[in-house]
Amino acid sequence: MAKINPVSGYEPYLERVLISEAQLKGRVAELGAEISRDYAGLCPLLLCILRGGVMFLTDLMRSLSIPHHIDFMAVSSYGVGARVSSGSPRIVLDVNTDIAGRHVLLVEDIVDSGHTLDHVLRLLQTREPASLKVCVLLDKSERRVVDIPVAYRGFVIPDEFVFGYGLDVDELYRNLPFIGVLKQAYQ
Ligand code: IMP
Ligand code: MG
Repeated sequence: MAKINPVSGYEPYLERVLISEAQLKGRVAELGAEISRDYAGLCPLLLCILRGGVMFLTDLMRSLSIPHHIDFMAVSSYGVGARVSSGSPRIVLDVNTDIAGRHVLLVEDIVDSGHTLDHVLRLLQTREPASLKVCVLLDKSERRVVDIPVAYRGFVIPDEFVFGYGLDVDELYRNLPFIGVLKQAYQ
């Protein structure tokens, strides 16, 4: 696998833009409207999985018309430098909020093998939330190993490594306003 130079811009690594800024805006607005209808009167807790979910969370919050809370969890699922999930996620930072009796909506950047969300869902379910659902921006459905009930899904994408809009390549380029495909040489 060729190496990413951390001081260069993203351009050498971009194969093509997969989802444009305008497409992301439009779809996030639709999801926000749908979630606002479904959770009216429930003051949901949007539980974002760090770090990839942050840009999606903050845009989704702005598209919600209902009161809601937010909190964060961090899960590590990748070996250092690896581009595929190790399949054994670890909770690095647990949620601070007591979720018993709450309507919890997990907000995640991408579901790939499903191991990360499966692990988080099992853990949170033991804490007896009133409801527990999943909202993912991207779904690499071809690669699913563990079945995950996805209630809200932004886009189904092909089996290619993507970055931007919260998703990283070696912790870089999360700030890009679009989703791009990483060149094959770096995957
Ligand atoms: P899973 O446990 O295999 O479903 O992997 C989910 C996690 O892997 C996500 O939360 C992402 O952080 C990361 N991930 C999976 N595919 C990609 C990708 O194409 N680009 C960046 N991160 C990814
Ligand atoms: Mg993630």
